[in-house]
Amino acid sequence: MDVVSSLSDLKTVRLSLDGTVGLVPTMGYLHEGHLSLVSRAKAENKNVIVSIFVNPTQFGANEDLSKYPRDLERDLNLLSSLFPPSSEQKLVVWTPSDEIMYPHGYQTWVEVEALTKVLEGSMRPGHFRGVTTIVAKLFNATQPDKAYFGQKDAQQVAVIRRMAVDLNFPLEVIVCPTQREADGLALSSRNKYLNEAERKAATVLFRSLSAAKELYEKGERDGENLRRKMKEVLEGEPLAQMQYVSCTDYDTLEELDVVKGKALLSMAVFLGKTRLIDNFILG
Ligand code: PAJ
Repeated sequence: MDVVSSLSDLKTVRLSLDGTVGLVPTMGYLHEGHLSLVSRAKAENKNVIVSIFVNPTQFGANEDLSKYPRDLERDLNLLSSLFPPSSEQKLVVWTPSDEIMYPHGYQTWVEVEALTKVLEGSMRPGHFRGVTTIVAKLFNATQPDKAYFGQKDAQQVAVIRRMAVDLNFPLEVIVCPTQREADGLALSSRNKYLNEAERKAATVLFRSLSAAKELYEKGERDGENLRRKMKEVLEGEPLAQMQYVSCTDYDTLEELDVVKGKALLSMAVFLGKTRLIDNFILG
C-alpha cells in the first residue's frame, strides 16, 4: 500500500501503475459500505486508488464540517487488511490537503443542472456543485478506468453518471449495492450520532421503503400511492421526522405519477438532529 498526499507524488505513483485502475472516492472514516466498493474495485482492476478527502465545498453553512468524523490511522489499517503485502494487486491511498484541492484564489466549478435541483439538491443547495467539482478533480488527477460509487447516495450516482457522460470522462461509473446492518439500517458514518432510542427507530427508513416495494411487487404503479405508503410508515414512528419521500424515474429523478421502467424510491428523515437518507430501486 502506498500512501501519498502531494499531486507530484500521486503523479509519480500513477505513472508507475501497470494495468487497469479502479478509483474509490471517499471522505474517510471508512465502514463496510466503503470497503465493499474497495473490494469490488479490487475484483475488477489490477490497481486500486482510494482517495480520502473531506471535501469542504459540499458541506452547507449549517452542516458542521468541523465535526465530520476523521481517523486516518484506522482507515489505513482497514484498507491495508484488504491488500496484504503478499497481494499482487496494488493499493494507492491518496490523502490530499485542502490547499492541494482548492489552491489560493480557487474559482473553477463543475455544475450539473436540472438533476441537482431536486431531492437532496433542493434541501442542500450547493452540495452537488461541491461533489461534482471534487469528483471531476479526482478523475483528472487519478485517470481511472472505472470509478466506484454506492447506491446509498442515489442522487449522487445519477449526477456523477450525467457528469461523466457530459464531460466525456473516459471511464466507467460502477454503482455498488447499499450495505446494511442486520436490521436493514443502511451503513453511514452518521449512524454513530444516533442515541439508543434513535438507533432503534432508524429502521423505519428500511421498513417504509420495504412496505412501498411490497406494494409495487403486488402490482401498484401509482407513484402517489407508493409515496403515501412510505409516509404512512414513517408517521408511525414518533422519533422520526420526515423531510421528503419520493418516487422518481431512476435516471432523470423526475417525480412519477405512474411507475414505468426503472424507478427510485427515496427519502430523507431526521432522527433527532441526525439526518438519514435511504432508497430502493424498483424495476
Ligand atoms: P462518503 O460519504 O465517504 O462515501 C464514499 C462512497 O461510499 C460513496 O460512493 C457512497 O455512496 C458509498 N457508501 C456510503 N455508505 C454506503 C453503504 N452503506 N453501502 C454502499 N456504499 C456506501 O460520498 C462521498 O463520500 C462524497 O460525496 C465523495 C463522492 C467522496 C465526494 O466527496
